[in-house]
Amino acid sequence: MRRSLSARSFFSKRANVQSLETLDSLKENLIDIKGKVVIVTGASSGIGEATARSFGRNGAKVVLAARRVDKLQTLAQEIEAMNNGAEAFVVQADLSKLEDIQSLVAQTIQKFNRIDVLVNNAGFGRLAWLENLDPLKDIQAQIDVNVMGVIQTTRQVLPVMMKQRAGSIINMCSMAGLVGTPTYTIYAASKHAVHGFSEALRREVKPWGIDVSLIYPGGVVTEFTQHAGIKRKTNAKTPKFMLLTAEQVGDAVVNLVRRPRRMLIIPWLWSVTAFMNKFLPGLVDYTTINRFTIPEREDELKLPPSR
Ligand SMILES: NC(=O)c1ccc[n+]([C@@H]2O[C@H](COP(=O)([O-])OP(=O)(O)OC[C@H]3O[C@@H](n4cnc5c(N)ncnc54)[C@H](OP(=O)(O)O)[C@@H]3O)[C@@H](O)[C@H]2O)c1
Repeated sequence: MRRSLSARSFFSKRANVQSLETLDSLKENLIDIKGKVVIVTGASSGIGEATARSFGRNGAKVVLAARRVDKLQTLAQEIEAMNNGAEAFVVQADLSKLEDIQSLVAQTIQKFNRIDVLVNNAGFGRLAWLENLDPLKDIQAQIDVNVMGVIQTTRQVLPVMMKQRAGSIINMCSMAGLVGTPTYTIYAASKHAVHGFSEALRREVKPWGIDVSLIYPGGVVTEFTQHAGIKRKTNAKTPKFMLLTAEQVGDAVVNLVRRPRRMLIIPWLWSVTAFMNKFLPGLVDYTTINRFTIPEREDELKLPPSR
């Protein structure tokens, strides 16, 4: 009896020591954000702004990039006032212009001499029927920012990270990068492109010590919908309990730097939709067409076909 008790206490002590060791090694493996040089694109509002603020709270040196420089400056003052070693540096950049992207990276290097993290967040959606989208202002512009902006910014930052043999790239995708829904044609195309680009890149750069993580948020309460031009008859929208705040996504981005992951779907319940779309696409087609497309376009569908 005595022997078995002491054996039990020996094993429980050993388990405790082991779990403490695991905790220590986990802590060691968690990347410290303090002092890291982080570029956040689209930092003037919504998710980008919240992400930059979250990096600031963790004592990072944050480079804030977007077109609305007044908003960036206000955020920079807020970050500098955090008094925790955080720094902020504002760069006005239109992510659809290669020269602005080159200047963003050059100014960051001049100021901080390295880049530890790139958050490719800038983007927008114009959510209407394809034939109603303007070929340039809606279609071309979305591809220019959401796809080309991500590719060109990464292309400019990559040599810096490769020289460092370290870096973390977080690409802001969307559930639209996994599931295509009506009125999201171009937006879904752009986010599917981000998905494919990031997957290939991840496999290119890992040996250089560079992590590439993709984040797929569902609906997030930001300015996004104000710019999207959404007109709905069915009033179909993301249920409230599934909506995220920009802060929740921002904190998730910071955690992806600490612990890189191939992909993160938030809220996790959207994984069910992604799974169904992959393995039961007929069912998803049927539901979407009958619950959304037909009711939305009923009036137009009633008109006789023209000869
Ligand atoms: N909200 C959602 O439901 C949701 C869900 C999943 C993914 N996302 C993705 O999250 C990202 C951020 O969106 P958000 O919801 O935070 O929307 P938001 O509040 O409208 O923010 C968009 C940001 O992108 C910037 N941006 C747009 N065009 C730009 C350009 N040409 N050059 C530089 N910056 C540009 C804007 O800055 P300026 O206007 O100052 O340039 C702004 O800072 C986007 O990639 C979006 O696709 C959003």
